[in-house]
Amino acid sequence: MEVEISVAGPADREEFLEMWGQFLLEHEKIGDDLRASDRTLAYFGALFDAYTGGILGGLPLLARVGQDLVGVLLWGAPPPGPVDRLKEDRMTSWGTFTAPALRGHGVNRALRQRAVLELDAVGIEEVLGCVFVNNPEGCESGRAIGYVPISINAVLDIHTEAEALRQGVRGKKFYPRGLCPLCGRDEPK
Ligand SMILES: CC(C)(COP(=O)(O)OP(=O)(O)OC[C@H]1O[C@@H](n2cnc3c(N)ncnc32)[C@H](O)[C@@H]1OP(=O)(O)O)[C@@H](O)C(=O)NCCC(=O)NCCS
Repeated sequence: MEVEISVAGPADREEFLEMWGQFLLEHEKIGDDLRASDRTLAYFGALFDAYTGGILGGLPLLARVGQDLVGVLLWGAPPPGPVDRLKEDRMTSWGTFTAPALRGHGVNRALRQRAVLELDAVGIEEVLGCVFVNNPEGCESGRAIGYVPISINAVLDIHTEAEALRQGVRGKKFYPRGLCPLCGRDEPK
């Protein structure tokens, strides 16, 4: 299967966003708190415009087999915020998606490898992304291309914990010591 990767331009907007909508919907099911609404999609449409129009540095990529769009990737600078960062040129990996029927055939590897080469050519040193732990394909594909974890997002279920505290079934020693359930390392002695 011949996969062709290209950098998206303004004319690809509709096709790109149609597939990005599928990405958002699938992520909503995985557990992303980003609602796959028209408003959310419009935000990514604005990012796409900023990247393809050169207002922000960024890289929307398309993967095609023949004429068919089979995958997309969106990496780029986050919109400027009210804070200073040490890594001003670090890009955000907003996501990447392969059409379900074409998964497991190297589409995503081709997209990410092209993205790495494109960004290296313009001096970008890092992209920062996140993946849900209940998304094994997402985790595996990230690992396979070389992502290394640097932080852990963790959710605390306030209601469950508060209820347990009120009932006195959670104490300092409730959670067994040993390997850290978050980072997997041995706890400091
Ligand atoms: C994750 C996703 C992008 C992978 O796309 P894909 O085109 O099927 O991936 P590829 O065939 O290029 O595989 C790339 C690597 O991912 C891993 N991988 C992909 N699917 C896998 C699976 N079902 N089980 C285990 N590993 C898998 C493999 O390790 C592969 O590495 P290899 O090239 O050394 O064999 C695709 O499943 C998808 O679109 N998922 C929904 C959106 C998503 O989760 N995006 C990523 C998080 S932002």
